[in-house]
Amino acid sequence: MSTYVVVGLQYGDEGKGKITDVLSAKSDYVVRFQGGDNAGHTVYVGDEKFVLHLLPSGVLQCKGKCIIANGVVVNPKAFVKEINQIESKGMRTDHVFISRRAHVIMPYHILLDTYREEEQGGTQLGTTKKGIGPCYEDKIARVGIRMIDLLNPEVLREKIEKNLKTKNSLFEKYFEKPTLDVEEIYQEFIALGELLKDRIVDTELELNEAIKEGKNILFEGAQALMLDIDFGTYPFVTSSSPSTGGVCTGAGVPPTALQNLIGVAKAYTTRVGNGPFPTELDDELGEKIRQIGAEFGATTGRPRRTGWLDLVSLKHACMINGINNLVITKLDVLTGIHPLKIATKYKTEDGKIIDYFTSSTTKLNDYEPQYEELEGWDEDISNARTYEELPPNAKKYIEFIEEHLGINVYLVSVGPERSQNIIRKELF
Ligand code: GDP
Ligand code: IMO
Ligand code: MG
Repeated sequence: MSTYVVVGLQYGDEGKGKITDVLSAKSDYVVRFQGGDNAGHTVYVGDEKFVLHLLPSGVLQCKGKCIIANGVVVNPKAFVKEINQIESKGMRTDHVFISRRAHVIMPYHILLDTYREEEQGGTQLGTTKKGIGPCYEDKIARVGIRMIDLLNPEVLREKIEKNLKTKNSLFEKYFEKPTLDVEEIYQEFIALGELLKDRIVDTELELNEAIKEGKNILFEGAQALMLDIDFGTYPFVTSSSPSTGGVCTGAGVPPTALQNLIGVAKAYTTRVGNGPFPTELDDELGEKIRQIGAEFGATTGRPRRTGWLDLVSLKHACMINGINNLVITKLDVLTGIHPLKIATKYKTEDGKIIDYFTSSTTKLNDYEPQYEELEGWDEDISNARTYEELPPNAKKYIEFIEEHLGINVYLVSVGPERSQNIIRKELF
């Protein structure tokens, strides 16, 4: 068996899409296992830009199948839109399938997400307003609608009726907003089921068979460990488990089947949305990194907050995920910045020095990162394709990360295009 898991180690947008695209050329399956269209995964093929939200980033290169597994929350309208966009660029999508067990993001989930954010004013989470949280809530509350239900008129109507009873009451009485109509939603979603019926399949059996046959299977994470519902900066997190552990429940494969656990981190840190960010650079340098790194959200267009690399949180992320291969992206963005800083410890509000990530989200804002300074470089590294071509200080930066975490960096990304990689060891 040859399984590969690509997960984000920071606050999302590490370049998982680019790495998945690169690895998918040799994959028989590329599988999304959590999250939904809150993700924005960017792939550049030459000058052409693709942003994938719900479709696995393998859709462009994978010769096998792309699967949206049971752990994903699926907005069928967003799915159809994305399929159409890809097809309009002359590419095929007949290899994309959705698990019958995956939960459906309904219009009331999106409205709930939006109304709650509006209600919070300045203290909102800063969600993508795609209905992710409310959909996962319904899944756990056992009232959710699954993809398989879109194929069964009676079940679908009954579930929509039941859900709208409580949701409409909330809309009307609590949020003072218009209510939704059962028939309208039913007609729309039964039609979506009809449109997608050939793509709605059981996926766990096929994936487990493929694992037994030794096929190459790539699991593509969305979001990242610091946004994990359990191990991120709760409550400023997403509502799923974007960890390697999430693959087991999110795709129905056993932990013993997971081999290559690839963690993707930017050479610095970004965060979009609210929540603590100890190494944030809320200054001119932060703005410079935002401009050079084009740090604007792929899903919402919001400017991303920027800051130094944080090895305290990265160590936490590697531990929870059991990462055995690291990818560092966007090293090119740090060219020309002097000196470079990397946080290795935090000083707590009572002066204690700690080197582990804490569960205390509220205190994190008062923690002072303790930095190591490294010398920068001025050479353009975007055309480097071997490790030897990197300037000595760029290598030192990578090796500092490796030594601190005790994990090898197997790929260094030096630009957004699919060929802009330094691959130090072939994993496939
Ligand atoms: P994802 O959500 O983890 O897939 O990441 P996003 O696609 O949201 O954000 C990463 C952004 O960085 C995208 O615009 C990529 O095209 C870009 N990118 C990825 N790797 C590199 C790199 O090594 N250098 C530069 N300059 N840009 C990169
Ligand atoms: P990719 O896969 C960055 C953030 C939102 C918000 C929080 C909760 O592109 O890395 P949600 O809509 O999920 O309930 O929002 O999580 N967020 C992301 N940030 N990249 C993402 O995905 C994200 N998906 C959600 O900004 O702070
Ligand atoms: Mg993204």
